[in-house]
Amino acid sequence: MSENERAASRTAVLVCQGRAAADGRVAAGRFSDPLAVRLLSAEERVPVDEVRAGVPPEGWQARSRYEGVRACAEVMVPRTVAIDGALRAHVTPQLVILGAGLDTRAWRLPELARTDVWEVDHPASQRDKRARLTEAAQRLRGSEESGGPAAELPVVARSVRFTPVDFSVDDLGAALDGAGHDPSVPTTWLWEGVVPYLTRAEVRATVAALAARTAPGSALVVNYQAPSAKASVGRLLARAMGGAITSGEPWRSLWKPRRMQALLAEHGLRVVSDDDLRSLTHALGGTARGRTSLRSGRVAVAESPGDED
Ligand SMILES: C[S@@+](CC[C@H](N)C(=O)[O-])C[C@H]1O[C@@H](n2cnc3c(N)ncnc32)[C@H](O)[C@@H]1O
Repeated sequence: MSENERAASRTAVLVCQGRAAADGRVAAGRFSDPLAVRLLSAEERVPVDEVRAGVPPEGWQARSRYEGVRACAEVMVPRTVAIDGALRAHVTPQLVILGAGLDTRAWRLPELARTDVWEVDHPASQRDKRARLTEAAQRLRGSEESGGPAAELPVVARSVRFTPVDFSVDDLGAALDGAGHDPSVPTTWLWEGVVPYLTRAEVRATVAALAARTAPGSALVVNYQAPSAKASVGRLLARAMGGAITSGEPWRSLWKPRRMQALLAEHGLRVVSDDDLRSLTHALGGTARGRTSLRSGRVAVAESPGDED
């Protein structure tokens, strides 16, 4: 299988499992994603239910799946709370979600009622999500056996447009043009959990492409991973194991905050906040036990100057 023909993202499923495991259990009132579990298959829900029950299963494989989902839930809570907050603070007529995976915001954030959403993702991941949405809607209406017409989950955003793009080969600007995105209208860009999977050149090209479509009054919310000694050891280990512990989706680029800030500044985007997930966890009253992805995971918000600036 060539890179462009690759399978749907497994890490998108893992982060969805993390959100499903945390929903209603962790940081209640601040974090919630009740739709996440609906996007999972029965098999994918097994470790989610185990984590929710706090009962680790027997056996190495089941236990490592359990630990993966449990660790992921810890990361997803601060990441989601920070990003949801940033999106609420930057409501614009257009929201483009880059590498959307199993993101549910267009289905759950009422603040998006007057916002058109473009979900941009690798074609394989996007096909997988659309199939999951249809299955979830069919389950919801109990029409699985009846074979009735494909239903849709109710979208709360003004609209959702699915836009398949492989950042490593496709032209993001042309794809968004074709999907009706208007570069003269303010846009909020969300880029969550994707930057590490892209090379530095792909990250630079994507920032350049989005900046070229960023009207005054727009914003970018970007989640990225900063380098750390532990993350480097983890990457080396993953490489040595031939992708067995990265679901075939290795990390390709880590960014020091000042480098990310400089890259965005080069394209007219001024960073107004950049927080690490561990501090965000503490702010939510949680105890982050030094997990690397919490320490090095960050959420930055950058703004393009408004007309009046
Ligand atoms: C860890 S998932 C994050 C999904 C979602 N943003 C979230 O946080 O739930 C990584 C996402 O990046 C997307 N992705 C990775 N490399 C990509 C590429 N070259 N082109 C398009 N999408 C890519 C995958 O398809 C997947 O949806």
